[in-house]
Amino acid sequence: MIELKNVRKNFGDLEVLKGISMTIQDHEIYGIIGQSGAGKSTLLRCINGLESYDGGTITVEGETVSQKDAKKLHLMQKNMGMIFQNFNLLNRLDVYDNVALPMKFWGMKTKTPEAKEKILSLLKLVGLEDKVHSRPSELSGGQKQRVAIARSLVLDPGILLCDEATSALDPAITREILTLLQKINEEMGITIIVVTHQMEVVKQICQRVSFLKDGTVLAEGRPEELFIRPIREVKAFLQEESGMLPGRGVNIQLFFTDRSKDPVITMMARQLNIDFSICWGKLEDFRSNVYGSLVINIREDDKDEVLEYLDRMHVAWEVLES
Ligand SMILES: Nc1ncnc2c1ncn2[C@@H]1O[C@H](COP(=O)(O)OP(=O)(O)OP(=O)(O)O)[C@@H](O)[C@H]1O
Ligand SMILES: [Mg+2]
Repeated sequence: MIELKNVRKNFGDLEVLKGISMTIQDHEIYGIIGQSGAGKSTLLRCINGLESYDGGTITVEGETVSQKDAKKLHLMQKNMGMIFQNFNLLNRLDVYDNVALPMKFWGMKTKTPEAKEKILSLLKLVGLEDKVHSRPSELSGGQKQRVAIARSLVLDPGILLCDEATSALDPAITREILTLLQKINEEMGITIIVVTHQMEVVKQICQRVSFLKDGTVLAEGRPEELFIRPIREVKAFLQEESGMLPGRGVNIQLFFTDRSKDPVITMMARQLNIDFSICWGKLEDFRSNVYGSLVINIREDDKDEVLEYLDRMHVAWEVLES
């Protein structure tokens, strides 16, 4: 478990983290999303001790992350692999030696049969067994990130920290890398923290997510909770517009949290014998579940009956200002 309690961090006079609290469970894929400058990278660097913090506590598997005890911190860092947007590979080394680098750093031999087996099995896991002796400059962006992922796993960490790991990749390659991260999470039980400004990343793989703004957590929960029915700040971040709504009648937004609720509005129209028009809608995939939202327009006279019906059917709703 990774536990942050009221974590504060300043750079000079600039307050970058203003009391961040979150708990990340073992084996979870946890997202941290927010705009540029929100403090996401700083937070991640505080978690693995690359950056000190000025207040609060961070514990990883019960141990406090602190720069006071360098030896202990080093051991904790061994347990936290990290990947970045720009891959950070060394071009003078081939793929094998790039993956082996953390072992070298820890004074481990990298060419013994055991080491070879380990590195080749990781390259197989990331699908690059045929690139063992290639240089990073001979690889595509997606392949480079695969090498970086293999490297991040070479010391058998329990935790993987990803800082905008897919931000430099196109959508198709992003999906492949996310699928790989999911596989690593499922098969190796590794806890993954994903820092991103891309909503798609959170939707595809995160079980829970925190929305960070100006060094504060504004919302936390399952991605479908945060994004299907977003609070004002999250809505602004998503730049979501429900378009022009009719000026007459009543506009009601409905929120569906699973597919089975889809026929509710047609059932409602039949049972209440009312008419409605559909103004706006969206359906989105969250870790292969479909969630959605729909805006309908009804007559003012039907409003009470409709809202009562929706309550009875346990459909969440909101009356929108037109
Ligand atoms: N080493 C540093 N010295 C001074 N200020 C810093 C330093 N690192 C980050 N900052 C500032 O802290 C704030 C948060 O930066 P951070 O890199 O954590 O944001 P971020 O959410 O990761 O943004 P992005 O999405 O652009 O990566 C910014 O205002 C940034 O300028
Ligand atoms: Mg960043």
